[in-house]
Amino acid sequence: MLFIGVGMVSTITPKYLPLVTIHKSLGITILVLAPIRLAVRLRYGAPPLPADMPEPIKLAAYLSHYALYALMIGMPLIGWAMLSAAAYPIVLVGGLRLPAILPQSDRLHALLWDAYFILAFAFFALILMHVGSGAVSCACAP
Ligand code: HEM
Repeated sequence: MLFIGVGMVSTITPKYLPLVTIHKSLGITILVLAPIRLAVRLRYGAPPLPADMPEPIKLAAYLSHYALYALMIGMPLIGWAMLSAAAYPIVLVGGLRLPAILPQSDRLHALLWDAYFILAFAFFALILMHVGSGAVSCACAP
């Protein structure tokens, strides 16, 4: 999603329109799946972190997991809200139309766009940290 997003805003070729449609459709699919995954996590918990992991690292790991869920739900919602505030039609793959979730407002659209841009790159950084810490803990495992 992040790569499609960045690819999308940096292209002026005809690829832009199908990319945006794929981007919106995948995003809404994540908006449906992420809460289900979070509910399963809250119900059944997650595998325990290595017992010898320092407590502050464990806390950072747990907080980053919930930040990842928050962004997996927040980014599609803000994307949807951003298009609603711009009064753009929200059409997904197969012509499925979504209703606007905010009234038309240029000020809101600008605000959401700025928040979206910052959160997108925070999401990138968090994913890199998550993958990086996973790689480190696997490499250190006995
Ligand atoms: C997990 C879900 C999503 C992620 C991670 C994501 C990520 C991104 C990223 C990284 C960009 C490029 C930002 C930039 O470089 O300026 C972007 C652009 C955009 N996204 Fe998303 N997005 C998600 C879901 C959605 C959804 C559900 C919608 C709409 C229903 C949406 C609508 C848009 C639009 C309209 C743009 C800007 C296109 C443009 O100005 O050309 N996104 N997204």
